[in-house]
Amino acid sequence: MTGPSDSMPSHPVPPDSRYDNQRWLRLWRDQQQSSFHQLAVNPLLSRFWQKLGLKRSHRVLVPLCGKSLDMLWLAEQGHEVVGIELSPIAVEAFFKERDLQAKKQRIGNFVRWRAKTISIWCGDFFALSSKQIGRIDAVFDRAALTALPPESRHAYVSKLMDLTEQGAPILLFTIEDIESDGGRESRSVDRELDDLCQGNYSVQLLHSEVIPQAEDQHRLVSHSKVYRLLRKSFTL
Ligand SMILES: C[S@@+](CC[C@H](N)C(=O)[O-])C[C@H]1O[C@@H](n2cnc3c(N)ncnc32)[C@H](O)[C@@H]1O
Repeated sequence: MTGPSDSMPSHPVPPDSRYDNQRWLRLWRDQQQSSFHQLAVNPLLSRFWQKLGLKRSHRVLVPLCGKSLDMLWLAEQGHEVVGIELSPIAVEAFFKERDLQAKKQRIGNFVRWRAKTISIWCGDFFALSSKQIGRIDAVFDRAALTALPPESRHAYVSKLMDLTEQGAPILLFTIEDIESDGGRESRSVDRELDDLCQGNYSVQLLHSEVIPQAEDQHRLVSHSKVYRLLRKSFTL
């Protein structure tokens, strides 16, 4: 991603994502979320979250949150958590499965569910405005950027910039398939990510580990990576 220029809109609109949205809604309806939903808090979250150097009072955005338990962990750290999720089934399940009594409120095209210090906006991430959700000091992204089709990712990063405070850092978890004989790639920043962030964020790879898997017929090895993204001109 290059920086905004005269020839390029600074906030690109995502390509028509209706098909993709329908696919996610169907996936939740058919109870097929086990391919990505984790039954426990992600251990890399507690290991790397402090690298963002946040205060308890900082508000954290969790885009495309599903019913992730990571939101509970973030709330336990003292943060107010703001999730965004398309599927009402996922949002309802998040609160029900924790026995949290959530208050529901329709706001524009969204329904906001709120219990204690966690609120989840149910609707399309790309339709949300910073005026609606208020100040956001940091972002936790696990399988959000990478859940989107490549043609929507540029718009996703732009939207994150719209929704967050100037210096808000991002902790990003990805899974990357890497040629098994290309060890160098496993210790470097993914090219597409570098491209998406260029001019706006400096990207630091904090961690990379091989995900154990069965016999690999395609010479591809999956790596779980943790990145810290810092808005340019802001350093920790
Ligand atoms: C791969 S899952 C990851 C969920 C969560 N981050 C986790 O770690 O379990 C992607 C989630 O994004 C949601 N989603 C996809 N497109 C969306 C959009 N445009 N707006 C809001 N949520 C969306 C899907 O319904 C799904 O729950």
